[in-house]
Amino acid sequence: MAGVDSGLTGADDGSTGADSGPAGAESGPAGAESGPAGAESGPAAVDSAFIELDGVEKVFDVRKKTGFMKRERRQVRAVDSISFRVERGEMVGYIGPNGAGKSTTIKMLTGILTPSAGRLRVAGIDPSRDRTRLAHRIGVVFGQRTTLWWDLPLVDSYRLMHRMYRIPDARYRENLDRLVELLDLGDLLDVPVRQLSLGQRMRGDIAAALLHDPEVLYLDEPTIGLDVVSKSKVREFLRELNTERGTTVLLTTHDLQDIEQLCKRVMVIDHGRLMYDGPLAGLHEAGESERTLVVDLERELPPIDAPAPARVVRVDGPRQWLAFPASESAAPLVARIAAEYPLVDLSVREPDIEAVIAKMYAERATA
Ligand SMILES: Nc1ncnc2c1ncn2[C@@H]1O[C@H](COP(=O)(O)OP(=O)(O)O)[C@@H](O)[C@H]1O
Ligand SMILES: [Mg+2]
Repeated sequence: MAGVDSGLTGADDGSTGADSGPAGAESGPAGAESGPAGAESGPAAVDSAFIELDGVEKVFDVRKKTGFMKRERRQVRAVDSISFRVERGEMVGYIGPNGAGKSTTIKMLTGILTPSAGRLRVAGIDPSRDRTRLAHRIGVVFGQRTTLWWDLPLVDSYRLMHRMYRIPDARYRENLDRLVELLDLGDLLDVPVRQLSLGQRMRGDIAAALLHDPEVLYLDEPTIGLDVVSKSKVREFLRELNTERGTTVLLTTHDLQDIEQLCKRVMVIDHGRLMYDGPLAGLHEAGESERTLVVDLERELPPIDAPAPARVVRVDGPRQWLAFPASESAAPLVARIAAEYPLVDLSVREPDIEAVIAKMYAERATA
């Protein structure tokens, strides 16, 4: 919780961050940045997107104990040369399987983590260099952790945020009233956070992230573990936030329904790489597509008799192409062909996006 808190509020920054406020942060220790960095947010900002990533990477050094006094060092490339732009007012889905690099991306976008390489700007600000100043313009919700004070009644967390973000009193009250109504928090304000259900806590967290009127809201798995009713409440709220207030939303999830119901644009990440960035419709096509098994036989033969739904789609001399559902393993098909045909060589062709999507659809089917 400490890590997240410090990222959001600067509360753990030896107290300089939150107390000095946005202006203080600029002229304080980060003052150096307003020199050369100032130029970047000047003229360049005119045609730049609200969120910009150029070749952003994050490599973690991991040490694994492999025995007595023995350690193995390994590098995990959690985010691998990612570039994208998000315009103000967009609501974008950022999806991918577990371990894909979604949370690492969000943490870099908040300034909690510093990229290993590449360039990253949010509202013209370099998040890791000017985290406190950025904190006033962004809101973050981590579905798997809370930014609320566990033992305090919900409303006390909000009062603390009020002071930490130096929200003007009238605006704080107005925002709180609106969020309490929209997120149905009226009966929960006096309840200690630890007594809230997961769905209630999530709504409480979302309100906390929005009290200071951020221009962009990052949500990292906001619907994880929620029941159907809570999910739909959260989705409805996010839709309204984006359309009514124009808040930019970056929604990280591995729940495809979140995306289907909320986002026109979706970015797919897998193994740290951006595999797809485009309209949701294109994603569906990719998700339902097939992979191709290319086999080289010893000689020219009639089309292979493959078990449905796999089928030969092309024959060229001793080479044959078989299409099969992307969601299925190639192994049984390969085994069968190897057993019954004079097989010389084979390969599976799978545009990477399709494999990712197929995997996600398969996950959803078994969820
Ligand atoms: N602090 C860390 N130290 C080492 N490896 C990490 C750390 N954080 C994340 N990783 C690794 O980076 C990869 C991406 O993780 P993450 O961004 O959390 O994925 P996602 O949110 O998409 O599930 C994973 O392989 C994960 O184990
Ligand atoms: Mg994650």
